Amino acid sequence: MACEATPQPGLKVWFCCVFLLTCIVSLGESSTWGMSSQTCTDPCSLTLVESIPDNLTYPAGSPVHPSTYDGLLSLINSAKQSIELASYYWTLHGSDISYHDDSDWQGESLFKSLLKAGRDRKIKIKIAQNSPQTSNDTMELAQSAGAEVRSLNFTRLIGSGILHTKMWLIDRQHFYVGSANFDWRSFTQVKELGVVVRNCSCLASDMGKLFDGYWYLGKPNATVPKSWPDTYSTTINFTNPLQVKFNSTPVTSFLSSSPPSFCAMGRTVDIDSIVSIMRGAKEFIYVAVMDYSPTTEFAYPREYWPVIDDELRKAAFRGVQVKLLGSYWPHTHNDMITYMESLSILSTSPRPLMDCHVKLFIVPAYTPSQSKIPYARVNHNKYMVTDRTAYIGTSNWSGDYFISTAGIGFVVNQPESSTAGNSREQLEKIFLRDWYSEYAHTIPQLKKQLSRQ
Ligand SMILES: *[C@@H]1O[C@H](CO)[C@@H](O)[C@H](O)[C@H]1NC(C)=O
Ligand SMILES: *[C@@H]1O[C@H](CO)[C@@H](O)[C@H](O)[C@H]1NC(C)=O
Ligand SMILES: *[C@@H]1O[C@H](CO)[C@@H](O)[C@H](O)[C@H]1NC(C)=O
Ligand SMILES: *[C@@H]1O[C@H](CO)[C@@H](O)[C@H](O)[C@H]1NC(C)=O
Ligand SMILES: *[C@@H]1O[C@H](CO)[C@@H](O)[C@H](O)[C@H]1NC(C)=O
Ligand SMILES: *[C@@H]1O[C@H](CO)[C@@H](O)[C@H](O)[C@H]1NC(C)=O
Ligand SMILES: *[C@@H]1O[C@H](CO)[C@@H](O)[C@H](O)[C@H]1NC(C)=O
Repeated sequence: MACEATPQPGLKVWFCCVFLLTCIVSLGESSTWGMSSQTCTDPCSLTLVESIPDNLTYPAGSPVHPSTYDGLLSLINSAKQSIELASYYWTLHGSDISYHDDSDWQGESLFKSLLKAGRDRKIKIKIAQNSPQTSNDTMELAQSAGAEVRSLNFTRLIGSGILHTKMWLIDRQHFYVGSANFDWRSFTQVKELGVVVRNCSCLASDMGKLFDGYWYLGKPNATVPKSWPDTYSTTINFTNPLQVKFNSTPVTSFLSSSPPSFCAMGRTVDIDSIVSIMRGAKEFIYVAVMDYSPTTEFAYPREYWPVIDDELRKAAFRGVQVKLLGSYWPHTHNDMITYMESLSILSTSPRPLMDCHVKLFIVPAYTPSQSKIPYARVNHNKYMVTDRTAYIGTSNWSGDYFISTAGIGFVVNQPESSTAGNSREQLEKIFLRDWYSEYAHTIPQLKKQLSRQ
């Protein structure tokens, strides 16, 4: 067992004090950092991976990370026993549109690699997918690669919502979690951000518990248990994160999950993890999400759901710098612009002047074929970075995603004082690259641009 409890929390506090140089500061800190009692000795590595849509470029010297495609391909190829996938919809094949587009090749290639892994290398493939599916991708994997497929009908399970998770779990050792769907567009046409964690059975086995939960709910006639059996429980959570080294740098980490009814004993509910991270921020909160709304969007009647919006306002009021980067594409609801605008207004009012700004990211189509692809050319990122924490999620930031939709948050606590070049800092640089890029527009700029069209 690589994960074990350290029986001397007092000792940890002492170490923490030395680390932060002052006990008073340390003991006054929230529990996001340094108080963990669980240590992981696996040689974990963490790589941020991104899909940068074709022809979207940044100035020389901007942060560059491995592609989602390369990350996932290497995960598939490193599998020795099992590949467990949890997904919303599957359109890795370019044939989901009525004509051929050359940019489908990465999706096709991943599909082929999965097929070969199951068929030729006899890797056990388990797929938990949302029901209904419009494509036959997973049926094909079942027929040709021996994949076992289970479908979760959220309408039946909880009345509304979807399985919105995007999880790749390999041998319960390595995983991907992030914004990329199982869609060929997610590698060449849609901007995505996620994380590949390798050689990390401590966290991968905790991810496995989330997968096991989906797997259970995919059984015919399954119902959501009132109380989940112990095998789904975790000891790794917000108040007790795992002490782990990513790329040799010590951090604390945990996985949160939504909706609340999917959380077994000990699991931090995803929205609680977002709120806690915001409350722990001292200097800044940078958020990049595709959709942002302090309401429910899909369930009727719609409800006002200000949980996240309130936290951003509170943080700005106490002097934390807030930057919210939403995404704009032809399907964006006008509501979202209005709600975001109402946050940006805070930066114009005195006493106290709040450093709270919003922008919208547009992924331009550079060629006629790019404009033609349905549901492409958009920034699909779903993450947050503060001066202490990196949060990588799979959910849009509106009520439904935290009430009835299944998603995962991957959290790394790593204060600014720790080693330079760490993953939190890398995420901060990605955010700032995008925020100051030519693709990010303030609302007045966006309105001007739209009125010209
Ligand atoms: C756009 O990207 C594609 C694929 O990477 C490349 O083949 C093509 O030359 C690029 N086109 C332009 C106008 O940059
Ligand atoms: C899926 O397979 C069924 C039966 O083989 C076929 O009728 C249907 O057209 C396929 N759907 C797609 C989206 O390929
Ligand atoms: C999902 O469950 C609902 C409610 O039980 C049912 O009406 C619907 O047909 C199911 N959908 C699928 C794809 O099985
Ligand atoms: C994971 O561990 C294996 C075996 O110890 C090693 O060969 C491999 O390089 C490691 N991978 C990473 C990404 O650290
Ligand atoms: C699921 O429930 C339906 C309706 O109650 C029943 O007919 C069916 O046999 C059940 N399936 C299984 C696998 O239990
Ligand atoms: C977090 O995990 C610890 C065990 O590590 C447990 O005692 C505690 O109750 C958990 N917290 C929550 C909120 O579930
Ligand atoms: C986020 O919301 C948008 C608009 O409602 C939707 O098109 C998109 O699919 C959602 N994100 C994901 C990953 O589904």
